[in-house]
Amino acid sequence: MRIVKTIDEVRKAVKEWKSTGLSVGLVPTMGYLHEGHQSLIANSVSQNDKTVVSIFLNPIQFAPNEDLESYPRDPERDAKLCEDTGADIVFRPEVSEMYHDDFCTYVDMDILTKNLCGKSRPTHFRGVCTVVLKLFNIVKPDRAYFGQKDAQQLAVIKRMVRDLNLDIEIVGCPIVRESDGLAKSSRNTYLNEKERQAALVLDRSLKNGIELIDAGERNSKNIIAAITEVIRSEPLAEIDYVSVVDAVSMQDVDVIENDVLVAIAVKIGRTRLIDNFSFSV
Ligand code: PAJ
Repeated sequence: MRIVKTIDEVRKAVKEWKSTGLSVGLVPTMGYLHEGHQSLIANSVSQNDKTVVSIFLNPIQFAPNEDLESYPRDPERDAKLCEDTGADIVFRPEVSEMYHDDFCTYVDMDILTKNLCGKSRPTHFRGVCTVVLKLFNIVKPDRAYFGQKDAQQLAVIKRMVRDLNLDIEIVGCPIVRESDGLAKSSRNTYLNEKERQAALVLDRSLKNGIELIDAGERNSKNIIAAITEVIRSEPLAEIDYVSVVDAVSMQDVDVIENDVLVAIAVKIGRTRLIDNFSFSV
């Protein structure tokens, strides 16, 4: 496995692969990799001849008050995980390699990015779409892998690919959880022992929602109320949103008639965690 820091180098390698007809998978990440990221890499390795993992803490998807500075990093452990999982290249550019000082071109998406996380993070998806499109243009993968953990991000990337006619297959991968149910996240490392225990309320509340829907409930208000009640029972938890949205448009629905995403964002202490489940009618 090679660790590559420049756009030219990664382009050269991919060009060589493609000239011999090899297929290429891309797994975009921000590092501090865990089994969630690893499952994406493993999927790419099994479905493509070559896999590129990008590790880039993308400054433009963080607002000034967010955790860019404190975001956890461990480049050596990340490289080992990528190598052990079968990646061929880790693309780890510096910020200056990705953004010129006078960079001023962005991908701006409406509608899907305005709800859920977009409400409290209004510039976030602009940063995500822009960097992901740049990575697509740099690596030119046949397939790219994203986790259902960030379900809105996955829907947004799929829409960008459709709307901008990108010739790339987007592969969504299931949420990987800790044995006690907490969705794996690089940000879980911010939680102290008490908060880590309190964070279990996310999965617990969603299980409650799943049970209700399985029992036939289709009214979003009732599902949201039940999930909210469970979260409120945890004193350390503060709700950002509990929403039932259309699986494609990310817009709120009153009654479940088509495929939906049930998504929550909850602050545990100072750490904002997200989780979700999908329901197909
Ligand atoms: P990051 O948070 O590092 O996540 C990289 C990818 O791993 C995303 O597609 C995310 O959904 C997936 N992932 C994270 N935790 C997961 C879990 N528990 N189970 C399954 N998949 C999981 O998402 C980003 O980085 C950035 O926004 C990025 C797309 C790289 C653009 O900068």
